[in-house]
Amino acid sequence: MLNLSFDHRSIGHIAMTCRFSCVLLACLLLPSLLLPGLLFAAGNTDDDAAQARRDAVLVRAIERMQDFNYREHPEVIAAIDRQLHRTQGTPEFIRLVKKFQPAGIEKQLIETLVGDNRSAAVEAAVLLLEMEHGRPLVRQRLIDKAHGPVVAEVLGLLGNGRAIYFLSEITRQAEQPFDLRRAAVVGLARSKGGQKKLIEQADQKQLVGDTWLIAGALLARSDDESLRKAAGRVLPQPAQKDAKPLPPVDQLAKAKGDAVAGMKLFRGVATCANCHIVNGHGKDVGPNLSEIGSKLSREAMLTAILLPSAGISHNYENYVVLTAEGQVIAGLKMSETDREVVIRTADAIDRKIDVDDIESMKKSEKSVMPENLHHLFGQQGLVDLVEYMATLKKADPS
Ligand code: HEC
Repeated sequence: MLNLSFDHRSIGHIAMTCRFSCVLLACLLLPSLLLPGLLFAAGNTDDDAAQARRDAVLVRAIERMQDFNYREHPEVIAAIDRQLHRTQGTPEFIRLVKKFQPAGIEKQLIETLVGDNRSAAVEAAVLLLEMEHGRPLVRQRLIDKAHGPVVAEVLGLLGNGRAIYFLSEITRQAEQPFDLRRAAVVGLARSKGGQKKLIEQADQKQLVGDTWLIAGALLARSDDESLRKAAGRVLPQPAQKDAKPLPPVDQLAKAKGDAVAGMKLFRGVATCANCHIVNGHGKDVGPNLSEIGSKLSREAMLTAILLPSAGISHNYENYVVLTAEGQVIAGLKMSETDREVVIRTADAIDRKIDVDDIESMKKSEKSVMPENLHHLFGQQGLVDLVEYMATLKKADPS
């Protein structure tokens, strides 16, 4: 049992030596009387072990004192500080931080959150999400370019309600970078709660399109059958021409292809060059892909081909015009004046349409880029095309 000695000049009316439990009991009853004694004991060091014991008792006692503002007592702050140091990384540490929320600890925790030690990072996340001043810091780091994906990973490992909420805020914001949204999807897919959230977001069309494939691929590996089934409904995976499923995108992205075969496909059977220019070759309907290898990961390229309508960029929205004569003209809107609208069709032809001849003009949910192009060239063709596009890089400035 722990023994604590008190100086009789300070609290002579209380027993000279008091057992640990007595101190605590007394603290509950007589906090203001006991405090000076405790402080004295804490400051009166003879060796480290003894000080550790005194700090522990003091901190316990302070914890139990209601309405006691420890911040006004530098000796108490010092004892709490020492105690935090001693207990770092243990459940006791977590308890103390929650209880005392020592000034500046958030900063220390946020560094731990983005540090190399994942277990410590998860622990730091637990604390920060419980702290009023910690939550905004986590949110800030989550959308910071350098740390966002790491924070998303840690929150995914944590997987509690708050972590899931934070991640689900990211996965529905198209304006966030793809890498961060992908990391948030991967994070959500780690826990059952997160998987449910992903399905809910997909169902409500909140999940940004360019992560549908990877989300569906990850959820298809859930160990919960009902979640796997739900994912199959709301995030269907693309099939091959013969209706057999394709391997999931993250696995396809790892396959090695033949770049030369990919280039031949691109310019030929696959029809890509009908709409995309690469190094001066091809037609100008979709974006120029001469540097696509520097812009998109292999997984993102696969998604662009397999789900063209999932991530249509603002400049490439597809318009469908119905003319007074009943003709439908669809494509990119190149210009619009009071007099005429110019639509560039999938054949790379600019159609000028007199405004008076337009019955209706609607923005389409579908991309100008056709769906199921991969049925033209199959799984190996897909891998070869991606291999080819991965070679299309920004010129080395040197
Ligand atoms: C009929 C025209 C058309 C064809 C054919 C076509 N694309 Fe596209 N593609 C587009 C348009 C328009 C966009 C931009 C809008 C979008 O993403 O849906 C696009 C977008 C892309 C992107 C994303 C580019 C970026 O910067 O994010 C990639 C990659 C891509 N296409 C690759 C291909 C490949 C590979 C093929 C052949 C298998 C192909 N496309 C065939 C019209 C086409």
